[in-house]
Order: sequence, then C-alpha cells, then structure tokens
Amino acid sequence: MPDTLRLALLGCGAIARYHLDGIKERVPRIQVSAVIDLDRAKAEKFAAETGAKVFTSLDQAIDQGEFDAVDIMLPHDLHERCALQAFAAGKHVLLEKPMAPTLEGCARILAAAKKAGTVFMMAENAQYWPEIVKAQEVIQNGDLGEIITARAAFVCEFDEYWFKEKKPWRYEQSRAGGGITIDGGSHWMRPLRMWLGEIDELVAVTGHPLKQMEGESLVRALFRFQSGAVAGFDALMVATAMGPEPWWRITGTKGELVIDGSFGGGIRLYDAQHRQGRTLMEPQGYAKSFGPELEDFARAVLDGKTLDAGPEQALGELRIALAIYRSATSRQWEKVWA
Ligand SMILES: NC(=O)c1ccc[n+]([C@@H]2O[C@H](COP(=O)([O-])OP(=O)(O)OC[C@H]3O[C@@H](n4cnc5c(N)ncnc54)[C@H](O)[C@@H]3O)[C@@H](O)[C@H]2O)c1
Repeated sequence: MPDTLRLALLGCGAIARYHLDGIKERVPRIQVSAVIDLDRAKAEKFAAETGAKVFTSLDQAIDQGEFDAVDIMLPHDLHERCALQAFAAGKHVLLEKPMAPTLEGCARILAAAKKAGTVFMMAENAQYWPEIVKAQEVIQNGDLGEIITARAAFVCEFDEYWFKEKKPWRYEQSRAGGGITIDGGSHWMRPLRMWLGEIDELVAVTGHPLKQMEGESLVRALFRFQSGAVAGFDALMVATAMGPEPWWRITGTKGELVIDGSFGGGIRLYDAQHRQGRTLMEPQGYAKSFGPELEDFARAVLDGKTLDAGPEQALGELRIALAIYRSATSRQWEKVWA
C-alpha cells in the first residue's frame, strides 16, 4: 500500500481553508498535489502553500493531474456531478455535506461509489469535533445519568464568512437546496444523533428573517427520538447582534453538560457537587475537528481503516432537513425515515 495520499482540493473557498489547515496540523501523509477552482486566483493561493498544480476544472485535473483522491468542497448543486465524475475516474472521494440536496441524488452517488470500489467519506466534521466527542464519552460513561433531553442551537450572526461573494450561491434555493437547515444545520444535528440515537419524527416552523437569502434563516424544531427522548433544535442567522447562547445543552438525571456557543468551544458540567459548574474540557473548538476528519480519510485509503462514520450516516442529516421542510409546510409532525 502507498504511504502517501495524493489529494486534489476541489473548491478553494471558505471550508477549504479549514481542510488544508487540518492537513497541515495533523496529516503529513496527505500530499495536496492538485488544487482546483473556477477562480484561478483562489487555487493559486492554495498552490503557493502546498506546491500543488493549479487547475480550473475537475475535467482538466483528471486529464492532466496526478492524484488518488478528491476532496469536494463545492456549492451543493455541484456535489453529484463532481462526485460521479471522480468515482468514474477511479478516485477516492471526500465530500462536504450535504451529500446532495435530494435523496435521489444521494442514491446515485452511493451507487457510483459502490461501483468504483474506492473510499467514499462524507466530511461531517461534527463527528470529530473534540467537544462533541468528549460529550459522547461522558454520556456513554453514564456520568450524566439517564439522558432526559437536549437542546441544539445553531445561532450565528450573519457575516462575511458565509456571504463573501457578490451573489453567494448560499442565497439561492436552487443551488443550496434550502437555507441554513440543509447547510450548517447538519453540524448541530449529527451531535444529537451521536448522543441520543436516531430521530423518529419532528415538528418545525421556519422563517426568513434574512431577506437576501431565499432559503430559511430561522428554524424552531422539536425532535422525538426512537428512544422516546425529545430535543430542541434551533437555527437562526440574522444580521442583528445577538447575546451568548450555548450551542448544546444535554440534560441527564445526574446533571447538565453545556457546550459553549462559539467556534472556540469548551464544556462545563453542572451537577450536585458543582452547582456553579466546572470546566470539563478547555476550549478546543470547531477548527480542531478538521485534522482528525482528514486523518480518518487518509487512514481509510492508506491503511484500510473503517471510517468512524460511513457515508450513509450523512443521509440522516439530509432526511432531518427534508422533514423540517415538510413539517414547515404541513404544520404536522413528520417522520424522518418514512
Ligand atoms: N463542515 C463545515 O463546517 C462546513 C462549513 C462551510 C461550508 N461547508 C460545505 O463546504 C462546501 C463549500 O462551501 P464553502 O463555504 O467553502 O463555499 P465557498 O463559496 O466559500 O467555496 C466554494 C468554492 O468553489 C468554487 N467553485 C464553484 N464552482 C466551481 C466549479 N464548477 N469548479 C471548481 N470550483 C468551483 C468557488 O470559486 C469557491 O472558491 C459546501 O458543501 C458547504 O456546505 C462545510
């Protein structure tokens, strides 16, 4: 087996920065050998850091580049076409979420991955987010007792990170497949699934406070898990200053675990011995999830390791998003897996 994974970065935008930093920090066995972006200047920036060859399309890179795997970090409407093309060329694929904006698109990607027989991983970084992983350990150890409920709040002030371009693809329903639920929402849903199991049904209301975005920028939802537990899921992006709010709370019979509402992170535990709370984990944060994510991908390709979460797992977040959209219209509880 080769000892180095030659990787092409497809899309050198916002999230590519985190992927590349994760590689540099933690995965010396990945060699970025191709950087691809429609916008040549963006690709050149990444090339200057990596020594990779620059391309402005996947076609061109497949014809002329040398790489074993593609890390697809593109607007959602391009995921299916590029994943199918990469699999047809025999490449391993790491794909940013959502797999595709529709279940039919996901089924075609999964079929292509199976046919190619290469590694296919969905880049759901929450699976590797240090605070989320630590909370999972605490729950599994029984330190919170029996889990009563949880709350996830994806609250984000509208800023340049999300909307750098003049006409960002995220504004457009047809490109993004929805609003903040199908986009960043997945990183708040995966933790709930890791901690509480699968969601059976949900009820949701959506709104559009961010006028420039076609998709929803407000969600208030209630999830009922197969276990019978319920959890709240909020998502909000507004151009207003907002006060602090934890990103997650998990309440059990022995106490409550609170994950700080910032990209910095950190966990505090409140229990009978520590009514004012004690620090369970110093801030690690969102950015620290990308190194282990890329490492898992490299190990799957180079060492044959089983992925921490197979690609089908990501269908769960898409199904939740689609059920939220159905519920917002029907005003009824909607089944997630029906
Ligand atoms: N894991 C996370 O926390 C997280 C955060 C943000 C975004 N994402 C995901 O990453 C993906 C990209 O989002 P982003 O925020 O980086 O977007 P972005 O707009 O910042 O970057 C996308 C890049 O793709 C390039 N591009 C567009 N069409 C192309 C084409 N046909 N060929 C080559 N390049 C093309 C653009 O020029 C741009 O540089 C999405 O799937 C998004 O949901 C994940």
